Amino acid sequence: MPDTTLVLRADDPIGTISPRLYGHFAEHLGRCCYGGLWVGTSSADIPHHEGFRSDVLEALRALPVPLLRWPGGCYADHYHWRDGIGPADGRPRRLGMSCGLQVEDDNSLGTHEFLRLCSLLGAEPYLAGNVGTGTPQELCDWLEYCNSALDTTLTRMRAANGSPAPFGVRLWGVGNENWGCGGNFDAASYAREYRRYATMLRHVDPTAELVACGLDDDWNTEFLRTLGKHVDLVDHLSIHRYWTHGGPETEFDEAEYYALLAEAAATEAFIVRTAQIIRETTGGQRIGVALDEWGVWHPEARPWGPGDVPRRAPVTYEQAGTLRDALAAAIALEGFHRQCSVLRLANLAQIVNVLHAPVMTEGARMWLTPTYHALRLHAPHLGATALPVEVGQGHSLPDGSSAVSATASRGNSGLAITLINRHFSRAADVRIDDAIAGYADGQLLTASAPRAANSANQPDLVVPAALAVHADGPGRWRVELPPHSLATVLIRRAPSEPWHR
Ligand code: AHR
Repeated sequence: MPDTTLVLRADDPIGTISPRLYGHFAEHLGRCCYGGLWVGTSSADIPHHEGFRSDVLEALRALPVPLLRWPGGCYADHYHWRDGIGPADGRPRRLGMSCGLQVEDDNSLGTHEFLRLCSLLGAEPYLAGNVGTGTPQELCDWLEYCNSALDTTLTRMRAANGSPAPFGVRLWGVGNENWGCGGNFDAASYAREYRRYATMLRHVDPTAELVACGLDDDWNTEFLRTLGKHVDLVDHLSIHRYWTHGGPETEFDEAEYYALLAEAAATEAFIVRTAQIIRETTGGQRIGVALDEWGVWHPEARPWGPGDVPRRAPVTYEQAGTLRDALAAAIALEGFHRQCSVLRLANLAQIVNVLHAPVMTEGARMWLTPTYHALRLHAPHLGATALPVEVGQGHSLPDGSSAVSATASRGNSGLAITLINRHFSRAADVRIDDAIAGYADGQLLTASAPRAANSANQPDLVVPAALAVHADGPGRWRVELPPHSLATVLIRRAPSEPWHR
């Protein structure tokens, strides 16, 4: 007898899992952009393609990266886009600032380089504009520079800098965390500022999707109410969620392990509440929720907040990424799939080296974190139709919730089911009911302990392995999940066919 059953509800699809839910975030913070992504066109030590690290590019192309937000974060509200165009040796050196860090910023990674990176990765760009130290005119100019097809001084500059055709950037953030680092606004004053920016931006490019800065229930309600009849200037409302209560990055105990997973699971409730506030204040669900920063932020990688452990000094915003972090990410992704009709985009923070990074570098070496592998295991879900999954029986966690959880989707090739066994120490024998007949295989991500992490010296300690998937009757399948593990089962209609979403 299996100890856990999963029932797929193919008759009641939730919606399409937009690839935008698998977005990433690259900020000029620590070694994310400079060093992690960009080593410059004259780097002799590290192989690169047009200035971008070749190893990192290759890893990210395989993830995939469908959406990439840049240049911040808090950095965005100090950033002046004109500093990052034109011949590299003529670009100004500025004080680069984000999250308390100050760096000498040579602006060698600017608009054209970032948009080139997006095209190399196949990613949709998402640009975060400067409200903190910028002006509506400056942001309008950036929008015109990127998107206008008319013959203007700005578009001639774009052509002279190598891009005659418009870039067609759809997503534009009007500031970042303007309740804090982006200017310490209150909700009503930000709403008035937003209204001015967004009105002008719409004149320049009415097809741009504008992302407003949100925070919590109170701010979001007041912001939307203050906009009143001008709420149609908002396409997406940005919220951020970092998980900070899991104790140390690697030496956590069992209670801290569960605390972090519970915090990750609670992200879904935050999305639901934000969507509800949008519905209640605007009378509909046209405005999407944009969770444009999310992930684990361990105490070692920040000078503030909970966590009774020594902080790294100086703080680098870098942290070890364990299997626990990968399970936490997968738990959040389950919620993203369930809320895919209201959650319109999401960006894991951040893409390389910083915070919950899937890819890490050290000198010329690169390694992939368990979270990278967890994301890879989710690739079949992108663009597919999310299906509800009911979990029956099974072991429970200390808080009474089920140890096993799952998300499923239907694509052109068949069904993809990603299962998590959150239990710290107990395996689970799982039967999947009401699936389809076909040809099943699986990939499993686990390790001897949830603390396991990859590193420059041990890059392959936590990597996916084949998982046996057994037929157990018509449309029924059976898998064994070790404790603290994650698996994706693919049930193809035709044998050995590459997976088509
Ligand atoms: O991702 C790091 C920082 O976290 C970002 O700059 C900011 O938006 C958030 O507070």
